[in-house]
Amino acid sequence: MKGIILAGGSGSRLHPITLGVSKQLLPVYDKPMIYYPLSVLMLAGITEIQIIAAPGDVPGFQRLLGDGSALGLTLTYTEQDKPRGLADAFVLCAEHIGDDQVALILGDNLFHGPGFGEILRTSARDVDGCVLFGYPVADPERYGVGEIDAEGRLVRLEEKPARPRSNLAITGLYLYDNDVVEIARSLRPSARGELEITDVNRIYLERGKAGFVQLGRGFVWLDTGTHDALTEAGQYVQMLSHRQGVRIGCVEEIAWRMGYIDRDTCHRLGAALSRSPYGRYLMDITSDARHDGGATRTEERA
Ligand code: DAU
Repeated sequence: MKGIILAGGSGSRLHPITLGVSKQLLPVYDKPMIYYPLSVLMLAGITEIQIIAAPGDVPGFQRLLGDGSALGLTLTYTEQDKPRGLADAFVLCAEHIGDDQVALILGDNLFHGPGFGEILRTSARDVDGCVLFGYPVADPERYGVGEIDAEGRLVRLEEKPARPRSNLAITGLYLYDNDVVEIARSLRPSARGELEITDVNRIYLERGKAGFVQLGRGFVWLDTGTHDALTEAGQYVQMLSHRQGVRIGCVEEIAWRMGYIDRDTCHRLGAALSRSPYGRYLMDITSDARHDGGATRTEERA
């Protein structure tokens, strides 16, 4: 399965911060925002990932992540000249997707919860149609909203409905079979001039091929697109780090635990950042004294 991180857009809700820097490069506590969605794709077992950025922003992402080889990944980049909608990702990345399945994640979404790595890997296995992830929220009118039947099957999808029929937001992580490229190409722009992801998902729903995973209590899904949301996300990550010593979204640690790089390589990546607590954390978890074969800390930390 290929991966796409959609990290374009104008970030206008975060102006003036995003006048000089891409939103997805802003810090969420101790690391750039894009580390969080990147870590989700890595946990799903995806190593070939294309990052979509706004015009002029690609060099910033390249400086940060390069070609991905340091993490055992293959990263490529493409520009989106203007925000044409989430589903534009499949048109832009058609070559990258090839004849494979694909996972799309929004560059400003942060997921954290028990067993998430396992949920991801199970959901990403042989996707026939699409898999959407629902999460109960207090303000569903701000999102794509899913309605489910008594058996938990998805029966209706609406984009930012004025009167939501449920409190289940559709999160910014989507898994698709290869049909998504043709479906995205066949879409007409919506009233706001965008290729809507909800229109893609509705086509799968009509075909009876829309799978749905509900992320329950104890799970955290945050988007980081406003000043308050960005600050709160940073505080959440800080709190986990201070209170439990749990670090989430450390892409080097995940690369090691997923077997994309070995322990020594992870240690060296930490050593290169040794003046920061982030770097020292990587050095600590990969040091001989602490080494436990990677068995005690599971990917759930990510
Ligand atoms: O966050 C989940 C929600 O994301 C879903 O529930 C909605 O169904 C879906 O439409 C989307 O709603 P948003 O209002 O959050 O989408 P927004 O236009 O804010 O775009 C989400 C991110 O994607 C944002 O960080 C910018 C980036 N983006 C957006 C567009 C439209 C791009 O990179 N390119 C684009 O063309």
